[in-house]
Amino acid sequence: MSLKITTLIENNLGDNPLLCNEHGLSMYIEVDGVRILFDTGQSGDFIKNVEKLNINLNKLDYVILSHGHYDHSGGFKKLLEKVKSSFKLIVGNSFFDKKYKLIHGGEYKFNGNSFDKAYVKSHGTHIENVSSDVFNINDDIIVFSNFLRSNNFENLNPNFYIKHNDMYELDDFSDEIVLAIKTNRGLFVVLGCAHIGVVNILETISKRINMNIYGIVGGTHLVDADEIRLNKTIAYFKEKNIQLIGVSHCTGENAEKKLKEIFNNSFFNNNTGNSFEVI
Ligand SMILES: [Fe+2]
Ligand SMILES: [Fe+2]
Repeated sequence: MSLKITTLIENNLGDNPLLCNEHGLSMYIEVDGVRILFDTGQSGDFIKNVEKLNINLNKLDYVILSHGHYDHSGGFKKLLEKVKSSFKLIVGNSFFDKKYKLIHGGEYKFNGNSFDKAYVKSHGTHIENVSSDVFNINDDIIVFSNFLRSNNFENLNPNFYIKHNDMYELDDFSDEIVLAIKTNRGLFVVLGCAHIGVVNILETISKRINMNIYGIVGGTHLVDADEIRLNKTIAYFKEKNIQLIGVSHCTGENAEKKLKEIFNNSFFNNNTGNSFEVI
């Protein structure tokens, strides 16, 4: 089998200065001929980068939106409007909940999707709402949801909320979904923001599938992590013997620096335009 992942947009630029970057995440993933777009960044600028990266979005099979934050789903409208492709959209069960962030001064700022279910359906796009723990796209490509909270250091972030019946409730990120691909070297896990906690996510996956975790890529939201959480996360990566750690986006400079120091060549800054293969 072969897996190729190209990061279409991310907070920082990689080696190619002709691309644009933004706070957000979008990755193009090919697994044995199956073409997947994982997240769409915040503005739709990933589409500009696609042309420069020689990627054709017209033949997408699936679009997966990891969760309902604007920096992952914001480019989806432009994708629907500009790209002619008859893909299936895969989202978590509560993806269309209205999401907010508590900012300085106690104000709730909307930071959710710029579209609803009706908009997606009006374009004739099929929506697959993942509600089961494990959703198989095929034998090797799996979407996970309903993550277990099994530790005491990855707590819910007190700044993220959803609005239900005009009331703000702490967001438990029940919409968050994660993609995993079975490779010859083990499981490769693709993360959006990992708001539930990267350790909670990997631990849940390990309980559900009997396979070593070979690599991870995407956002880990360690940007808000204290030293205890960061150290416990590093200890977990070591314990699991993860060989490839390509995290970026909401991982944060401090965590990226520390991961690089500890994991050396197993770590890479997965920035805009970066591309790698697992064979
Ligand atoms: Fe994010
Ligand atoms: Fe997020």
